[in-house]
Amino acid sequence: MQILVLGSAAGGGFPQWNCNCANCCRARAGDPAAPPRTQSSLAVSADGERWLLLNASPDLRQQILVNPALHPRRGARHSPIAAVVLSNGDVDHVAGLLTLRENQPLAVYGSDRIHAALRGNSVFNVLNPAVVARRPLALDERLAVMAFDGTELGLQVTAFAVPGKVALYMENEKAGPGFGTQSGDTIGLEIRTDEERRFFYLPACASLSPDLAGRLRAAPLVFFDGTLWQDDEMISMGVGTKTGRRMGHMSIGGGEGSLAAFASLGVQRRIYVHINNTNPILIAGSPERVQVEAAGWEVAYDGMETRL
Ligand code: MLT
Ligand code: MN
Ligand code: ZN
Repeated sequence: MQILVLGSAAGGGFPQWNCNCANCCRARAGDPAAPPRTQSSLAVSADGERWLLLNASPDLRQQILVNPALHPRRGARHSPIAAVVLSNGDVDHVAGLLTLRENQPLAVYGSDRIHAALRGNSVFNVLNPAVVARRPLALDERLAVMAFDGTELGLQVTAFAVPGKVALYMENEKAGPGFGTQSGDTIGLEIRTDEERRFFYLPACASLSPDLAGRLRAAPLVFFDGTLWQDDEMISMGVGTKTGRRMGHMSIGGGEGSLAAFASLGVQRRIYVHINNTNPILIAGSPERVQVEAAGWEVAYDGMETRL
């Protein structure tokens, strides 16, 4: 199985269009310690021919351009992208579906809640239902991913609910502390091949519950939410008013952070993805980057390629 990191940044990308934080300034200035990153997505293939996207970011057009594996190969119209699995309804994970219009056959998988979010936004009707199948992703069931025409990609996906939050644009301030969040708004994904090679992908996760820790224990590879280093990072840098917790993301550092939570899980390979532009781990050689690497973590970058 091949895994390509198409985009390793969180929503907004790195640098973010309107952000003047120290990290973004370094990226904009071309500092080699702060390479730019596009928004959150992976591509996976069992055969090197047909690809499954895990999330479709607003940068998808650019991500396709720089990854030859995703270029058309035959006939007048063709794409190696056969299917998309969505892990939540956030803008950084669904806006790229609009790039995939143009009558190209495609299967789009998501939880009931994620499909409801798409149905609630009529702009996604630009995906012609005659060639784009919207397929359910029942939680805790192993499902063989199929292209629009029903052929299997040789990849199976198991979706499971993870602690998180409803998409920002669907938040209901009157609905109490969860803002109307329901199970299935944020899901984690386990991807397997027919040969039982497997990995987990959780670009958004609010906490490592005992259930979730049990599921991830001793896994060969986990891509995990690396949004913020510190819960109040955006507030203390003056670029926002929300904590990571408020946004549905557990931080990396600190006693309740993912570094500490994963320390005893025995996961063989751990890679941070969905990294916000304010996060100091984006800067090569920063103390925080050195600390995550010393703990055995890798920091994803655009174009990172892994085989399992
Ligand atoms: C998030 O990960 O918290 C979202 O992508 C926020 C957003 O929609 O901008
Ligand atoms: Mn996001
Ligand atoms: Zn910034």
